[in-house]
Amino acid sequence: MNYLWKSKSNISSAEKTSFIHTDIHSHLLPAIDDGAKTYDESIELIKRFVTLGYKKIITTPHIMSDFYRNTPEIIHSKLQKLRAKIKEQKIDIEIDAAAEYYMDDWFINQVNTQKPLLTFGDRFLLLETSFMSKPYQFFDTIFKLQTQGYKPILAHPERYTYLQDDFNLVEEIHQKKVLLQINLNSLDGYYGKAAQKVAEKLIDKKMIHFVGSDCHGNRHLNSLQKVQKKKYYLKLKKLSLINNKL
Ligand SMILES: [Fe+2]
Repeated sequence: MNYLWKSKSNISSAEKTSFIHTDIHSHLLPAIDDGAKTYDESIELIKRFVTLGYKKIITTPHIMSDFYRNTPEIIHSKLQKLRAKIKEQKIDIEIDAAAEYYMDDWFINQVNTQKPLLTFGDRFLLLETSFMSKPYQFFDTIFKLQTQGYKPILAHPERYTYLQDDFNLVEEIHQKKVLLQINLNSLDGYYGKAAQKVAEKLIDKKMIHFVGSDCHGNRHLNSLQKVQKKKYYLKLKKLSLINNKL
């Protein structure tokens, strides 16, 4: 029988509440970072994305020289295997992969030496930093990336304590044309009150370009289901998010 896996019959279409159809931040390739551990777990999570109404996933394994030395070759080979399993199980979703780069010395060196970096869409490049402090060469590295034609996205600005304490710095980052991606689960207080407040302020000020699940496992999708009923989630509908244009 040639049908696509959409959702089990016991899941009503009312649960498919996501108006966001493309997720751009997750850790679903198995055993290469702190996300999914096996292909079975990846498939289970992907089926839950379909149930929530997602049509496309751009998954973004960590690249962090101290912990996760992932290369484009490792990422693409896992992606190919995962795609084969998705096809085998006739799951109705498109999947692609890029990376979430941690701004460490190794990354800064890659930028300085103009090494090709993993991107998605219109040369969008997902970046994260230390949670405690802004990297010393942050703006310099951003400028170099932009000069090389990349469009850097700062992942979950609301989660960094150095930004929670300094909204002027968030505005400066925004003015320097760094695209901002909040984690949807921040809207439910998943990462604490301070992160929720910054995420809500970013929505009110229409400073957000992307949203993401940052899904590492079932716990994030459990929270995501609840978020879809939050007032600030609905406010996102008024923003012109890039997610659904990918
Ligand atoms: Fe992440």
